Amino acid sequence: MDQIIVTGNGPLSGQIPIAGAKNACLTLMPATLLSEEPLTLTNAPRLSDIRTMTTLLQSLGAEVQALQDGQVLAMSSHDLTSTRADYDIVRKMRASILVLGPLLARFGHAEVSLPGGCAIGARPVDLHLKAFEAMGAELDLRDGYVHAKAPAGGLRGGIVDFPFASVGATENALMAATLAKGTTVVKNAAREPEIVDLAECLRKMGAQIDGEGTSEITIQGVDRLGGATHRVVTDRIELGTYMLAPAICGGEVECLGGKIDLLAAFCETLDAAGISVEETPNGLKVARKNGRVSAVNVTTEPFPGFPTDLQAQMMALLCTAEGTSVLEERIFENRFMHAPELIRMGASIDVHGGTATVRGVEHLKGAPVMATDLRASVSLILAGLAAEGDTIVSRVYHLDRGYEHVVRKLESVGARIERVKEQ
Ligand code: UD1
Repeated sequence: MDQIIVTGNGPLSGQIPIAGAKNACLTLMPATLLSEEPLTLTNAPRLSDIRTMTTLLQSLGAEVQALQDGQVLAMSSHDLTSTRADYDIVRKMRASILVLGPLLARFGHAEVSLPGGCAIGARPVDLHLKAFEAMGAELDLRDGYVHAKAPAGGLRGGIVDFPFASVGATENALMAATLAKGTTVVKNAAREPEIVDLAECLRKMGAQIDGEGTSEITIQGVDRLGGATHRVVTDRIELGTYMLAPAICGGEVECLGGKIDLLAAFCETLDAAGISVEETPNGLKVARKNGRVSAVNVTTEPFPGFPTDLQAQMMALLCTAEGTSVLEERIFENRFMHAPELIRMGASIDVHGGTATVRGVEHLKGAPVMATDLRASVSLILAGLAAEGDTIVSRVYHLDRGYEHVVRKLESVGARIERVKEQ
């Protein structure tokens, strides 16, 4: 297994290109299952999660070709051979549940393994199932699988009223409703940019959708969808992560492709901490010019609030802030596994339930640390950039799920970072 060694090396400067969004791509790819005609995605990120989704779609009989070094995904679901998503693939990645809506809508039945728990909490799929039920589907949980069956004649439009906003359930409902008979209204829909991106792609395929980006989405079902070519939206989480690099160790970095409206709440928090963020013609320029950052309080919320997927990285910054910061995690239970690792590096953090209190220290010190999930692992790399000495991050396969060329991107702005085989 590989490790990443980071050595604190002072201010950063230069440009970092931001890739297409992993989470958008993971819902745009299953959209191919809705149509017999080809769907081509450009600006796809080169990540192991994307390869897992590729394997899953191929196991259903879809053609998926990665072109231009993986940045273009040419897909066709003309000749699907199966409507069953097997446990062996689903257990590797929860987003696999996103094939259920499209398969059910196009073929009238589908069987998808239940994803099970994961490192950041129980993460059930009840809201996804509730959406399909509202469209007339019968669901049966047997042998670890969801067996879903549409009524004779296919899914029917209905009112899907979520008790709270779920990104994945909104995406699944949206995809399924495009081919349902009649009108579907999704209430309390999630508003994330990845959902807007999905709706734009589905519309290019011929879907009739209104209201994406608000909490009520209306979908008028159509008989069939066609092909399309679509550019994947910028990865706002990769963007926020690299914005934190100069924030944490000083200097000025321009994140190419970045836009403030992808991360407004996060940018406001950086501003309150004393970090300057400026929109340029090519992206976002982030600078920390003088002194320590100030402590700030952070509460994670659905979009447009502060994203849970940037909470670990923000904590890494606040470890060396002046004063005490309180981070409240409201989306996932058990999402502070990076705290004990940051403490090993000299941070002062108390975790009580969903709240972490971080008392800023002047310096962190390099240490061997272990990544427990995707965002936790990158937070340890960020902390290592500002620490004295070497930080050795193990289990970096988590990183490969969500960050392409992390070593190359950070090296190009002056960081001392290398990937080595574990000793
Ligand atoms: C997506 C993102 C993930 C991000 C999360 C929140 C992808 C592939 N992943 O995950 O990176 O952290 O949004 O922004 O896009 N819940 C239920 N029942 C359900 C579904 C969700 O109780 O049926 C709960 C979850 O346990 C969680 C909350 O709802 O507490 C929000 O989860 P959700 O928005 O669904 O996240 P994902 O789509 O899994």
